[in-house]
Amino acid sequence: MAAVLHCMKTLIIAIDGPSGAGKGTVARAIASELGYRHVDSGAMYRAVGWQALRNGVPLEDEGAVARMAAGLRIEVLANAVSIDGLDVTREIRTPAIDRAAATVARWPQVRAVLVERQRRMGQGGAIVMEGRDIGTVVFPDADVKVYLDAAPEERARRRAHDPAHSGPTEVALVKSALTARDEGDRTRTASPLYVARDATLVDTTGKSVAEVVAEVLGVISGKLRTEK
Ligand code: C5P
Repeated sequence: MAAVLHCMKTLIIAIDGPSGAGKGTVARAIASELGYRHVDSGAMYRAVGWQALRNGVPLEDEGAVARMAAGLRIEVLANAVSIDGLDVTREIRTPAIDRAAATVARWPQVRAVLVERQRRMGQGGAIVMEGRDIGTVVFPDADVKVYLDAAPEERARRRAHDPAHSGPTEVALVKSALTARDEGDRTRTASPLYVARDATLVDTTGKSVAEVVAEVLGVISGKLRTEK
């Protein structure tokens, strides 16, 4: 199947879903399978939240946060995130930054700055971008849209054991923070999280990474076959 996919034109693949649904792991694996770039758009919101806290910019001040974001050089590489050359890969994955990222992500002016950059990254195709609004707002014409979801308990368990994230490992605590953040992401006015009309919903509950990756590769090749 991978051989079929490699022959195809360079695609834009959008992967959306709530925290802990497996987006990062799956998007990375799909990108590596296809030889595409993987971009974690959530890391960009985290970088803005981290820098705002560091600079003492009030998270509630939309204009100030957006102006600050516009002046930042945020680099999101496969395994590292940096702001103006400073490596913040670990610093942006803490409970405080979970909250700060979700707060700055509510602001349309902040989103406009980041969405414009995300669209530029996608200009040549050959990209797997994950986030909350990739298939709905960033790339409404993406070649393939997948929405990953899983039961809240399972998402909390994965997040609690994710070595990239620091913070409590008690699943009940992680679950309440995670469901509160998801609720905020789903109900905000600007680019809320929802399943795009033309996205394929993949429930990852109880499935291994390999199973989900195979399912998503199946969605991609199925989509390409129907387009031919
Ligand atoms: O994906 P991650 O949990 O790292 O994202 C952090 C926060 O950034 C999310 O809770 C969400 O509020 C915001 N976000 C967003 N749009 C995206 C990606 C992330 O609003 N495309």
